[in-house]
Amino acid sequence: MKRARTGILGLGAYVPERVMRNSEWAAWVDTTDEWIHSRTGISTRRIADPAQSTVDLAEAAARRALEDAGLGVDAIDEIIVATDTPEVFLPDTASYLQTRLGAREVPAFDMAGSGCAGFVFGLDIARSRAAVGNRCVLLVGVELLTRIMDWSDRATCVLFGDAAGAAVIGPGEPLAEVLACTAGTDGSRSAILCLETGGTRRPVTEEAVSRREHQNIVMNGREVFKEAVNRMSAASRQVLEDAGVAVGELALVVPHQANLRIIKAVQKNLGVGDETMFVNVQHYGNTGSASVPLALWEARAQGRIRSGDLVLLTAFGAGFHWAAALLRF
Ligand code: UT7
Repeated sequence: MKRARTGILGLGAYVPERVMRNSEWAAWVDTTDEWIHSRTGISTRRIADPAQSTVDLAEAAARRALEDAGLGVDAIDEIIVATDTPEVFLPDTASYLQTRLGAREVPAFDMAGSGCAGFVFGLDIARSRAAVGNRCVLLVGVELLTRIMDWSDRATCVLFGDAAGAAVIGPGEPLAEVLACTAGTDGSRSAILCLETGGTRRPVTEEAVSRREHQNIVMNGREVFKEAVNRMSAASRQVLEDAGVAVGELALVVPHQANLRIIKAVQKNLGVGDETMFVNVQHYGNTGSASVPLALWEARAQGRIRSGDLVLLTAFGAGFHWAAALLRF
């Protein structure tokens, strides 16, 4: 039996309406617009309405991706949600999304705790599942990171934002072929970027809550910075090598949007020009697993991607996990 081509059939994204500027953080914690902008490149981020939860953002992005693919909800054969900020602790957000969308009773699961690499990591899984079973897989990266951070910790709170991005991966005439994917994990350094309270090792207690430990994202910024640059650069080179593509052939690199300085360092390592690097961290901050699909969606909406273009995705996050993918539009 001849297998249909599989690839990305549609993309979607959603950001909450509320825009929060750096100046608002400066009124809240001991920081300045100048510090945030010069150290991170971030000017604004979006904050979900208190009435919104993870599944609301996920649904909005998913419906846009389905519309972009020209598919109805009945076409979905599987749902994967990459998130560190789930709807509830149990069951997974994918279950809520399946019901909210009115999808068939298909397998649905979360990639929880995969950090900012979750969507690109998930793309590798989604394309394998799509190719093996001729399945149409809905992949969503969604975060409400502003709900789990400590709003009084200036070292982390100014960095994050809320958003969702989605892709439909399956058989058909692809919007983008997935030429190669790579991913990796180094769990030995997980303590450098983690949220320890709430699991079995350190359950939530009244004392823990009074010390805000349930929101205590532990991050050694400098170490994470170095690791992010090295891993995203290496994963990019790996995926190019696997696909037999030279860096000069790339039309666009869409990196995880955590910090403009990280993006610039990856750009330098890869040796590509400004026109090849997509940046939107200034508008949204670090939106975790939503960052790459949101950036990819926005790059396409801005006309930065044309048919035939080779586009490289690269991401890094807690775990540590990293992943890269090479697409041909
Ligand atoms: O997606 C993966 C998740 N995380 C990341 O990608 C984050 C990666 N790391 C980074 O982006 C950067 O390390 C940060 C933006 C988090 C920090 O930038 P940095 O240039 O590495 O600054 P630093 O942590 O070395 O801190 C420098 C100074 C410190 O003061 P002292 O000790 O030099 O007096 C901090 O206390 O800046 C201070 N600082 C701030 N000052 C004003 C930290 N946060 C703030 C703030 N406003 N918001």
